[in-house]
Amino acid sequence: MNIADIYKQMNYGPAPEANDKVTEWLEQHQDGFGLFINGEWQTQAEANYFESSNPADGTVLGKVTQANQDSVNNAVQAARDAQPGWQALGGHGRARYLYAIARLLQQKARSFAVLETMDNGKPIRESKKADIPLVIRHFYHHAGWAQLSDTENKGYQALGVVGQIIPWNFPLLMAAWKIAPALAAGNCVVLKPAEYTSLTALMLAEVMQEAGLPKGVVNIITGDGATGEMIVKHPDVDKIAFTGSTGVGRKIRQQTAGSGKKLTLELGGKSPYIVFDDADMDSAVEGLVDAIWFNQGQVCCAGSRLLIQESIEEVFIEKVKARMAKLIVGSPLDKNTDVGAIVDEVQRQRIDALVEQSKSEGANCWQPDQSLPNNGCFYPPTLLTDMETTNTAYREEIFGPVLSVVSFREQREAIALANNTTYGLASTIWSENINRALDVAPQIQAGVVWINTSNRFDASCGFGGYKESGMGREGGAEGMLEYMKPTVELASEQTITAESSTEGDAYQAEMKQGALPNIDSTAKLYIGGKQCRSDNENTLEVISPSGELCGRVPEGSRKDIRNAVEAAHGAKSWAGKNGHSKAQIIYFMAENLAYREQEFCQRLVNTTGVNPEQAKQEFDACLEKIFTYAAWADKYDGAVHTPPMHGVTLAMNESIGVIGIACPDEQPLLAFVSLLLPAMAMGNCSVVIPSPKAALVVTDFYQVLETSDVPAGVVNIVTGDRDSLSKVLAEHQQVDSIWYQGSQQGSAMVEEASSSNLKRTWVNNGKQTDWYINGQEKQFLVHATQVKNIWIPYGD
Ligand code: NAI
Repeated sequence: MNIADIYKQMNYGPAPEANDKVTEWLEQHQDGFGLFINGEWQTQAEANYFESSNPADGTVLGKVTQANQDSVNNAVQAARDAQPGWQALGGHGRARYLYAIARLLQQKARSFAVLETMDNGKPIRESKKADIPLVIRHFYHHAGWAQLSDTENKGYQALGVVGQIIPWNFPLLMAAWKIAPALAAGNCVVLKPAEYTSLTALMLAEVMQEAGLPKGVVNIITGDGATGEMIVKHPDVDKIAFTGSTGVGRKIRQQTAGSGKKLTLELGGKSPYIVFDDADMDSAVEGLVDAIWFNQGQVCCAGSRLLIQESIEEVFIEKVKARMAKLIVGSPLDKNTDVGAIVDEVQRQRIDALVEQSKSEGANCWQPDQSLPNNGCFYPPTLLTDMETTNTAYREEIFGPVLSVVSFREQREAIALANNTTYGLASTIWSENINRALDVAPQIQAGVVWINTSNRFDASCGFGGYKESGMGREGGAEGMLEYMKPTVELASEQTITAESSTEGDAYQAEMKQGALPNIDSTAKLYIGGKQCRSDNENTLEVISPSGELCGRVPEGSRKDIRNAVEAAHGAKSWAGKNGHSKAQIIYFMAENLAYREQEFCQRLVNTTGVNPEQAKQEFDACLEKIFTYAAWADKYDGAVHTPPMHGVTLAMNESIGVIGIACPDEQPLLAFVSLLLPAMAMGNCSVVIPSPKAALVVTDFYQVLETSDVPAGVVNIVTGDRDSLSKVLAEHQQVDSIWYQGSQQGSAMVEEASSSNLKRTWVNNGKQTDWYINGQEKQFLVHATQVKNIWIPYGD
């Protein structure tokens, strides 16, 4: 044997990470872990335990409590009692605690990494180099946000008690993502880790104790989905922050509908990994390893769909196979291991079933010729090729080390393929041509885009999805806002109660079908830039408060809403118009509205019963509002972050897409303008349902739109019954967001109906909004945009 042969045969020897300290810690808790409530470890009466085991070898690591309703109640109560004091501590006080937690975590980093690897099965290299450093970074970064909260988040305050439910793929990291911003903002939390991986969260509770965190600020309770559901349904929780499967996310959306709870959902994904023919192929292969084999592919933003340009497909796939053959699948505690264990046998079987399904649908399956460890829950790196885009593995989240491949010929096709999914969490683009990469990035419907890198995260950069990948962001300035509410509430004390909505119903009953109009011409709908009749040709009478017939409006139908949504979709190029052009059109609207002052004021007097002075006040406020959003159109810019890498992350405020807007009865013209204009200014297309009581005020606005160069389809108006039309909008798969101003029941209905495609919602929960409030435009702009973070590393 010569030296060359020896080199060829050299294998890595075992390099296990010592786990004696962690084993000792586990032994200390062998009687079972309690619940961390009100700063103390509590043993639940009739304690019911379940086991947490090491997926790499099946050994039981500990017994964990299945928290029951009493424990959930106690935890929520402890958080509620602690919250005023925690908030009153002020930004600097909270920063001191978050900093102390970060420091302690740093001192115990190794133990946390080892425990995470034992409980979850992820390679120790990853828990040491990725998970735990990011956990620490989150607490440091948010100590900073706490410190700056009084100045940087002026006008916002804590929500109160936050229920946080996290998954098993990044157990401690998800706990940090949730707890750090919530605490920084002044909230207290009840956190439930996933049942497979509770242990690092329990170790974290010890850190909270050691840091001297005031009692009740953080409560950590364990249990399965049943415990999670108790948190979700608890009436004294102000917000639910959830990360996990889309199915459970949808259920939580339904269960919180109408409750007034704020909600962020970070759900699944099927993220595209696009490799253009001008990519640095070797780097792209390495990036792919991070994208799909990191954490055994159990990553919500895993690059699980490789979209490869046809001209380089063959050579690229060969390189991928060669790299796959070198991935070491083995003991997670071994420092050489690349691919560790799958979290649980249930998940392993799920992965296997999906791969088998994909094969039966025609995919070609390739796995490296490598034996897996005999014990434990392992799945080999897997490549699925020759598949149709209808293949199950191409469409469904597998949450395992499985890559699906589809090729494309040109850039346009790559973008279409990338977006052809119900998900929109992340995307990766590989190209050496920066023009191409930066052209493609904004066209991908995803909350995160990595250019020539993959699976990068940082506390300073928001993370979260478009479409059914969820709502809200975690991390960065936008993540902080998710844990706060405006100090000035738009809603006044007055609520639209069931009683007053009955009055409304009685009023609407007067909008009965039938009698011919005796004054005025009949208004039409406004769809795709044209005035048109309702599909069902019915009309409704609009009666003034004094009983006069003011005119008639079409009774919009399901079909009309569908047409309006289609028109709005067709106008989506509005989002691509630059801020200056949008501002010009919006200013022009103000100009054209101003010409018609008399006509609009008269209409307000006739249909709403206000006196001329009040009408003039509303009209003037409308002009000011329009000017305000024209001003914002080219100023609501994003940010440039400098996370710890050689490069930048661009946080871009993007439009949401198609927004359905249901207007309230109060100040019908001002409310309409206040809702429509921010949506428009931020590049959205809208389908608006005017107040049924004063629909004519809005139908008069058609002429303003027509004379102001507003492109067809950007604004569509369908008159008719607010709640039944809102329901159609809420259920519509191509509506991306819905803003509803009406009754409490209507708000609940909208939130519940929106769960089908998890569209964003903004409802008034039956509270009357004060439309004359000024200086609150940011609240509207936040709802009219979503942030995309584009990561751009520089250099080699
Ligand atoms: P899951 O969504 O059931 O579990 C996530 C968390 O939600 C856990 O803490 C669980 O106890 C809790 N939970 C379950 N049902 C609940 C309910 N009704 N109300 C409140 N909380 C509830 O996810 P699971 O079953 O562990 O994994 C199934 C699939 O979900 C995976 O194969 C993967 O596709 C996806 N998943 C996605 C994750 C992501 O980060 N986007 C994370 C985990 C799973």
